[in-house]
Amino acid sequence: MREIRPNVYAVGAIDWDARLFDRLIPLPDGTTYNSYLVKGNKKTALLDTVDPEKTNVLVDNLLKLGLDKIDYVVAHHAEQDHSGSLPEILLLYPDAKVVTNPKCKAMLTDLLGVEDERFVIVEDGQTLSLGDKILKFIYTPWVHWPETMATCLAEDKILFSCDFFGAHLASSSLFVDDEAVVYESAKRYYAEIMMPFRRQVNANLAKLDDLEIDMIAPSHGPVHDRPAFIIDAYKDWASDTVKNEVVIPYVSMHGSTARMVSHFVGALIERGIAVRQFELSTVDIGKLAMALVDAATVVIGSPTVLTGPHPAAAYAALLANALRPKTRFASVIGSYGWGGKMVEQLVGMLPNLKVDIIEPVLVKGVPKDADFAALDNLADRILAKHKEIGIAE
Ligand code: FEO
Repeated sequence: MREIRPNVYAVGAIDWDARLFDRLIPLPDGTTYNSYLVKGNKKTALLDTVDPEKTNVLVDNLLKLGLDKIDYVVAHHAEQDHSGSLPEILLLYPDAKVVTNPKCKAMLTDLLGVEDERFVIVEDGQTLSLGDKILKFIYTPWVHWPETMATCLAEDKILFSCDFFGAHLASSSLFVDDEAVVYESAKRYYAEIMMPFRRQVNANLAKLDDLEIDMIAPSHGPVHDRPAFIIDAYKDWASDTVKNEVVIPYVSMHGSTARMVSHFVGALIERGIAVRQFELSTVDIGKLAMALVDAATVVIGSPTVLTGPHPAAAYAALLANALRPKTRFASVIGSYGWGGKMVEQLVGMLPNLKVDIIEPVLVKGVPKDADFAALDNLADRILAKHKEIGIAE
């Protein structure tokens, strides 16, 4: 438990050992479940709780503060890593009310069975006085669920943003102490859960323009005491700008697709195009997601398996489709033994991507001179496309 401003405390938990979120998202650096306690001279509010596995840490921190009561528990988001301890906190503080919006109330009822009479519903922009500190609630839908909201504490110029601006990064530092490290974790986090809602991210960034804030306190990772760092990063990631880069997720069984990828990567580099290559049987999907944030083009490499794409390549396509990156162009390269519909199936898995499909290169057996020339030609066409949109020379 630490004080981040007078009478504003960080009371959440560090989870150094977590390695997978939602049984899907790698957590190479663990995470934190941030919860904040704001003590006014009349009332006290707890902002979010923690993952149920860390309830004891939150409760210990609250007991250390010697609180005999909590008046409000603000629920910014119903996902269980922030709401999971709520039932226990409500038992511990039986007079506490849950302050949230109507959508979050419905979810907390569905997920945790919180009783109707415990809720106080607030509208977008509504305030709640704690005496000498006033909480202002700001709806921030779709960062990253429909019910997500934030709280501004104007007296201390703090924005409690919940998942928005968060990072899966376990650290003993309460504040950002190494911007390069936090940038990496925050970009990974943006890519994994915010990127599908890029339009809404931009709308929410615009909504925060008028706030005077010195600090952003998210629900994962360190507190930003230089908020421009993370706001500018989000503006860049969520902008329409793409980079002169090609992301190549690929898998190969007997080496033909790997040889194609190797040649193609060389051809792109010779043309001044940056490349990020990911071998899909060992990939960290967070790294792949991060690469998709900025790249202008994705080229999936796959052999043909049982007349379709290799399942690892299909998974990459499914993931890219779900993450909805701002990628502008896509293609497929790969090999086959006797035929199939690998290309059609992979392209069919990308309906959410607003991409121009550049003609794929499909090779029978091992690649030969004419196939390498076709890959050179694909690199030329990608360069031409990148020039058309003004990101290559
Ligand atoms: Fe950190 Fe969407 O929960």
